Amino acid sequence: MNNVLPGQPLRVLSGMRPTGRLHLGHYHGVLKNWVQLQHQYECFFFVADWHALTTHYETPNIIEESVWDMVVDWLAAGVDPQNATLFIQSRVPEHAELHVLLSMITPLPWLERVPSYKDQQLKLKDKELDTYGFLGYPLLQSADILAYRAGVVPVGEDQVAHVELTREVARRFNHLYGREPGYEQKAEAAINKIGKKAARLYRQLRTAYVEQGDAEALAKAREILENQQNISLGDKERLFGYLEGGGRIILPEPQPLLTPSSKMPGLDGQKMSKSYHNTIALRDDPESVEQRLRTMPTDPARVRRDDPGDPEKCPVWPFHEIYSSEDTRQWVQQGCRTAGIGCIECKQPVIEAVLAELAPIQERAAEFSRDPVLVRNIIAQGCKHASDIAEETLAEVREAMGLEYT
Ligand code: TRP
Ligand code: SF4
Repeated sequence: MNNVLPGQPLRVLSGMRPTGRLHLGHYHGVLKNWVQLQHQYECFFFVADWHALTTHYETPNIIEESVWDMVVDWLAAGVDPQNATLFIQSRVPEHAELHVLLSMITPLPWLERVPSYKDQQLKLKDKELDTYGFLGYPLLQSADILAYRAGVVPVGEDQVAHVELTREVARRFNHLYGREPGYEQKAEAAINKIGKKAARLYRQLRTAYVEQGDAEALAKAREILENQQNISLGDKERLFGYLEGGGRIILPEPQPLLTPSSKMPGLDGQKMSKSYHNTIALRDDPESVEQRLRTMPTDPARVRRDDPGDPEKCPVWPFHEIYSSEDTRQWVQQGCRTAGIGCIECKQPVIEAVLAELAPIQERAAEFSRDPVLVRNIIAQGCKHASDIAEETLAEVREAMGLEYT
């Protein structure tokens, strides 16, 4: 299945909830990946403030405080507004419109069986999450993705089911609305616009695919279409859909791009997370970063300096795995097991590496914090661009759903 709008550059979309300042877990788990992707794809990154409200509706102040801090953290980490579109979800109301339209065709059980629904309700027991918004939030995510017809969605393991739901919803939408009245005639008319030779070839290849399942023919026919400059996008989509016997692909199915799960541990060996109070925030000052690394727990077997230890039982070791060279790691393995080095000594290279990583980030964060107008302008421009793109999709969706009254 072609999962992107054929002939278009691949779009990437991802969002992050504004629920606090970002830490090294976000940096290693998400931001570094975004920074790379922005050079490879047309990227859209947004502040998922409506998503945050689905679980934090009782504490809107947290969201409010976190939005600009989070944007500054993105910029500081190297997300570049020249290379990616940065925006805030609630400032692009097309997300809400598409959500409501998709809700019309989404069977309730599809939402009820999304694993995160029950999981999160259990995990966040102290919150009342028996809400309409919470149940619908994966569909809001589908709207986020489909509004941009994103081909690629970088997500963690826990979000793959949401992309899968998005694919199902898109498929259902195309099935219901991709078959416009007179579809076949329109497709035939479109074929006649691509030139005699190409048209004949297209017909042959389509027959080969539809009748004999010849995948090579399908690929060739797609190639012909991709090279067509003279037909409208609508006709192009029609012809791509027609190739496979189906209708027009109005909402292409996205693919998840699994972010290699971050090995970033917290200061106590658990996953780094604000709720465990074991984080190093990107903007923690160097003295406290140093202090907290210096005092983080080590293998409990090393009570005295000359007790040998085992790096596998020590929360410092995963930091070495991220930050240290092979040589340093050898030195740790050897020194720890023979009590040849002390724990403070062992932590020193980690402390230096973390501080070196944070220094340029903090420098940029300081610059952007000093210039809130610049940050607001970046977001205003991003919202405008995002809205223009989403509007193109919504125009087609409205039309397909019979809402373009004249
Ligand atoms: N649901 C995601 C999370 O909680 C954030 C998110 C919202 C998102 N919309 C998205 C991620 C669209 C990728 C694509 O982390
Ligand atoms: Fe942990 Fe290093 Fe101390 Fe070993 S020497 S217990 S790896 S801090």
